[in-house]
Amino acid sequence: MNCSAVILAAGKGVRMHSNYPKVVHRVAGTPMIVHVVNAVTEAGIEKITLVVGHQQELIKALFVGQEVNFANQAEQLGTGHALLQARDIVQDDDMILVTAGDTPLLQAQTLEALIKHHQQSQATATILSTRLNNPSGYGRIVRNENGVFLRIVEEKDATPDEKRINEINSGMYCFQVKEAFKALSALSSGNAQGEYYLTDILEILRQDRQRVEVLCLDAKEDIYGINNREQLAWAEKIMRQRINQELMLSGVTMIDPDSTYIDAGIKIGMDTTIYPSCIIEGNSRIGEGCEIGPGTRISDSIIGNHVSIENSRIKEARVGDNCTIGPYAYLRPQAVLETGVKVGDFVEIKKSTIGAGSKIPHLSYIGDAKLGQGVNVGAGTITCNYDGKNKWPTLLEDGVFIGSNTNLVAPVRIGAHAVTGAGSTITKDVPPQALGLERAEQKNILDWKSGKRD
Ligand code: UD1
Ligand code: CA
Repeated sequence: MNCSAVILAAGKGVRMHSNYPKVVHRVAGTPMIVHVVNAVTEAGIEKITLVVGHQQELIKALFVGQEVNFANQAEQLGTGHALLQARDIVQDDDMILVTAGDTPLLQAQTLEALIKHHQQSQATATILSTRLNNPSGYGRIVRNENGVFLRIVEEKDATPDEKRINEINSGMYCFQVKEAFKALSALSSGNAQGEYYLTDILEILRQDRQRVEVLCLDAKEDIYGINNREQLAWAEKIMRQRINQELMLSGVTMIDPDSTYIDAGIKIGMDTTIYPSCIIEGNSRIGEGCEIGPGTRISDSIIGNHVSIENSRIKEARVGDNCTIGPYAYLRPQAVLETGVKVGDFVEIKKSTIGAGSKIPHLSYIGDAKLGQGVNVGAGTITCNYDGKNKWPTLLEDGVFIGSNTNLVAPVRIGAHAVTGAGSTITKDVPPQALGLERAEQKNILDWKSGKRD
């Protein structure tokens, strides 16, 4: 049986109070709707249709280059109306899985259970339900005295008795396509919200003597729908716990998982230890046997094996194996450290490549530079790369030794194994093996303190 998925994501999400559609808000670094699409894909469904409307270009931009279909819901007239917009795309499929775009904690195994139940029971429709201690906000599953499903009632339309029902509608269903669309076209909007409720087709189908199943699973996280930012923060917390748990079980040590924030999808090698208060985000990857933190934020960066980083900020950088960074270093975009580089305290590196085994141990700014291998940069060295208009390059060849407090006024090139004297402002190239020295000669004035001056 061919099964496709329809994800409803056209709503604005008024309760978020946002300039952006609800489903693009991020949970552990990834937009909610992407989490949902990933779970659906992982459940083995290849054909996915998103129903979009409000600010749809922002949603479409998340799926560029991916095989996802879009159906437009020009006016948001309710979830039933939303599904109807996907008719042309799914009408030749046998069954559809329908879900909302605002449940970021959804996991593939929950969908797999729903699909399996639907197929085995040969129902026309299967609703996924769950029991909650606090069901408020959700539609309730109404059953007769024998426990047979009757209908779903929305919170806003529910009687006080119905509000006490704690079995709720997850908003996830499987349908036989033909019957579902037939029932959808019979929907009316005579309810508290004046909307076409998808939930109403279940009663329509049941009255039409079609088989409607309710699968009640213990899945309160998976079905958790985000309607406001407090719920967004709760989802964030659960998602981070899941990410940390998976990483720990795969061989990563976390001294304090509660203060470790790692985005979804980041790979970290085994025997890496993460100290408290670290954020690892975006498109980052960390190798094996590293020591990260405490107090480190790494964004969109690739870190090799056996790297140590303490109290530092790393952004869009690449760090080779066996490097040591920090405390208090700042690697900015396009900083590239080859193997075994040492970047010490209060060092900032931008758009520069640092060759294997080179050392920049303290208090330096290196920008638009290329350092060869085995270069030693003395404390307080500054590449003067910017003249107010243009950025200029600095080249330090293999084995160069830069004396402390050197200004390297770019463009400038220091030849292999050359040395610069401490305190020099180097404005001219230094040939290989030479000493570049730019310094006023020291004068000692004797008896300065006694006041007896010549
Ligand atoms: C819906 C269900 C409710 C269920 C809950 C689970 C209905 C009528 N109610 O309520 O029974 O317990 O989900 O979370 O279905 N959307 C559109 N177009 C629209 C309206 C909504 O695409 O015209 C999308 C939204 O973007 C959202 C999803 O459908 O992703 C659900 O809409 P929402 O307004 O959040 O429904 P709930 O009130 O949560
Ligand atoms: Ca919702």
